[in-house]
Amino acid sequence: MTKIKAAITGIHAWAPEYILSNKELETMVETNDEWILSRTGISERHILKGEHKGTSDIGYEAVKGLMEKTGTSPEDVDLLICATVTPDMQFPATANIISDKAGIKNAWGFDVNAACSGFIYALESARNFVESGRYKKVIVVGADKMSSIVDYTDRATCVIFGDAGGAVLLEPTTDNLGIMDSIMQSDGSGRVHLHQKAGGSLKPASHETVDAGEHYIYQEGQAVFKFAVTNMADVSVKIMERNRLKSEDIAFLVPHQANLRIIEATARRMGVEKDKVMINIQKYGNTTNGTIPMCLHEWQSKLKKGDNLILAAFGGGFTWGSIYLKWAI
Ligand code: UT7
Repeated sequence: MTKIKAAITGIHAWAPEYILSNKELETMVETNDEWILSRTGISERHILKGEHKGTSDIGYEAVKGLMEKTGTSPEDVDLLICATVTPDMQFPATANIISDKAGIKNAWGFDVNAACSGFIYALESARNFVESGRYKKVIVVGADKMSSIVDYTDRATCVIFGDAGGAVLLEPTTDNLGIMDSIMQSDGSGRVHLHQKAGGSLKPASHETVDAGEHYIYQEGQAVFKFAVTNMADVSVKIMERNRLKSEDIAFLVPHQANLRIIEATARRMGVEKDKVMINIQKYGNTTNGTIPMCLHEWQSKLKKGDNLILAAFGGGFTWGSIYLKWAI
């Protein structure tokens, strides 16, 4: 029997309108365009403004566009998985809220929390549901309103993050296309370097935690940088080797956009030329779960059926991994 594979059959992404430039950040904290650009590669990021707007609003825009583009009716969706670190609420899952807004009534869904690797973790999860043969239309959303957990008085983190998201449709195929292989890893001891101190069961939110700014992102930048460079490159090289892929066989590397220097180091280790690396960090910053679908969406017109793509991410947890897929659209 021919094995069922899970293929991406649609992609859409969305970023809010408001642009927070490096110039505007210069008026908010002690920083400058030259430092931000040279240390991170970021020029601007998009911010979701307005009252009562959360990650589900970003996810909804992506899912709505995806369903329109692919002619998918909401009743036909079997499962929706949302990768996010900024859920609308601690519970219920943002996946449920997005489904409700999008009129998806015959599906179940849940959130995946794997920080910046969330989108590839969710894609790997969805892949297994599709390959099982039981699920025919699965939506994977990666979305974050990072501005909701960024301290805009902390120059070490506020220059990095932005808000955005994207969604893909996964469907079964018996052609030799779709997700071919994956490597997913985690090391919880890395949590000390990147986390949100309060608001969880360990340290519930209180006046004291808010006064101390413990509901914001805590990041030891240099330590995270070191692990990110090594681990993202290691898994990307490993997945190439075990699938006997040479650099010339790869159409595009689709890296998580955390820092231009991390992306360049990964591409160098893989031997992939810069013109084959999807990079849009300059326009959006690090949108956590939004980065990879945002890239796929932007590059879609350049992709051909059968193209070999390597998706790679590293994030808080620590979590990291890579996915090798053959583009199916
Ligand atoms: O996506 C999930 C995983 N996250 C990551 O992958 C992030 C990984 N880390 C990074 O991308 C980088 O470490 C950062 C971009 C966060 C920071 O860059 P860095 O080159 O590691 O800078 P640093 O933290 O070592 O700071 C160097 C200097 C310090 O000044 P002193 O102590 O040398 O005087 C900082 O205070 O740069 C200073 N600095 C800034 N200066 C101007 C830190 N932030 C800023 C800023 N503007 N925004």
